[in-house]
Amino acid sequence: MQIEAVSTQPFEGQRPGTSGLRKKVKVFQQAHYLENFVQSVFDSIGDFVGQTLVVGGDGRYYNREAIQTILKMAAANGFSKVFVGQGGILSTPAASCVIRKYGAYGGLILSASHNPAGPDDDFGIKYNIGSGGPAPESVTEAIYAGTQDISYYDIVECADVNLDQTGSFELVGMQVDVIDAVADYAELMQSLFDFDAIRGLLSDDFSMVFDAMHAVTGPYAKIIIEDMLGAADGTVMNGEPKEDFGGGHPDPNLTYAHELVDILYGDDAPDFGAASDGDGDRNMILGNHFFVTPSDSLAVMAANAQLVPGYASGISGVARSMPTSAAADRVAESLGLDCYETPTGWKFFGNLMDAGRVTLCGEESFGTGSDHVREKDGLWAVLFWLNILAVRKQSVESILTDHWKKFGRNYYSRHDYEGVDSAAAAQVLQHVRDQFSSLPGTQLAGRMVENCDDFAYTDPVDGSVSENQGVRILFEDGSRIIYRLSGTGTSGATIRLYLESYEADQNKHGLDAQDALADMIAAAGEVSQLQQLTGRDKPTVIT
Ligand code: G1P
Ligand code: ZN
Repeated sequence: MQIEAVSTQPFEGQRPGTSGLRKKVKVFQQAHYLENFVQSVFDSIGDFVGQTLVVGGDGRYYNREAIQTILKMAAANGFSKVFVGQGGILSTPAASCVIRKYGAYGGLILSASHNPAGPDDDFGIKYNIGSGGPAPESVTEAIYAGTQDISYYDIVECADVNLDQTGSFELVGMQVDVIDAVADYAELMQSLFDFDAIRGLLSDDFSMVFDAMHAVTGPYAKIIIEDMLGAADGTVMNGEPKEDFGGGHPDPNLTYAHELVDILYGDDAPDFGAASDGDGDRNMILGNHFFVTPSDSLAVMAANAQLVPGYASGISGVARSMPTSAAADRVAESLGLDCYETPTGWKFFGNLMDAGRVTLCGEESFGTGSDHVREKDGLWAVLFWLNILAVRKQSVESILTDHWKKFGRNYYSRHDYEGVDSAAAAQVLQHVRDQFSSLPGTQLAGRMVENCDDFAYTDPVDGSVSENQGVRILFEDGSRIIYRLSGTGTSGATIRLYLESYEADQNKHGLDAQDALADMIAAAGEVSQLQQLTGRDKPTVIT
């Protein structure tokens, strides 16, 4: 039946250029709100009648209710089949895997990533296309336009589907397949990594902890790491997914994954620690008293890919987001591989992977992945590291020390100023822009400034241009200071300041990153007047 799409407040859809609609649960719970968005998606994605849709989410509060609504709308709109993860669960990379494996038309993923969950917290939804990746801007623009003048939506009236039992069910003429949420993903992992070698490693005196942060990767990690790879029971901590993520903030970084960090930096620390986020696409890698920056992690993976069966025959190229350190570039150069520098956001990697130009890609924001799916993939990164450790039989720290010896070290840090006044944030970037013509050729932080620009990217595959992707001060020695406004923050503006300096001398590789970058940090503040303009004397988060 058709229902008139009356909103209790002006409906605000997915902004073009963002990868999903994220709002408080209370907003999604308003009459017709979710329905309006879902109908706008269905109205924007072309002719799917008779096709298959994949639906699943990170298990957060409102996941099950949203899935029931989506199933009834999919049936009314003409999909012939929907794959849904058991219990409504599919991690973001697992959803991408299922879309690809079964040749689905697309998928709806319910998640607000690492943002807190629960009745007073966040919910989100996004549409992925048949390649398994986030919808391109042409689609998100159409969805947004649709949400602005939606007048009705289609939904069938029927009882809810039992999401807890796997099997095929009929829903008013549409087939619903409730599938094991882990099996397809686990099979894909088994095809890429040397499970025997990892099993051997884990049965030695090697010890590890994986923190699922009470979010979606719990069941995936328990089955893959404990059951299939034989790690001891309890290796996966916080493995019980909860609707409110246990009240936590499942973002795998040094700030929010402090429970894991304390273990890896405590007495009797294990050899390896890792964590993933709410929907399973991010990862953090730790060694015994050692933190691997995501930028270095990508570089180490690229340099060691030949040790991993799924990549042993060679990788086609590497991509990193612009603010990610250039550590991977050095590996690519030495291996004779193409290296691409893209704007922030995973969707830019998708085109490169579809075109066969890159195999591995990553972002400084704890995202790493490959062309096995079209999303970043947290557990995949953990298994990649375990595979490297199983072959090299060295500690995480010595793998990094060796890596820096060979390629040099890219000291790197990101300083976030969260919840800043939006106008002040814009002024900070403009203040730096105003010096674009005067800075080159001058000394800053003891280095020569070579060039300044607003990063722009022309997609080598489809020719599309993305401008204003970050304000950059580029130095002759490869060091960089970058200022960028977050596109994902929810209140006010977030300024991200990225700092990078290259050190070739191995005798200087053992410094703390903040110490090594101290003069760059000071210079970044002076040039931008960040502190004065925002009234903040220090960042809210330092990574
Ligand atoms: C942040 C990260 C970016 C990532 C995005 C989605 O975006 O910096 O790398 O792709 O979340 O996970 P930002 O808030 O910086 O726009
Ligand atoms: Zn995520």
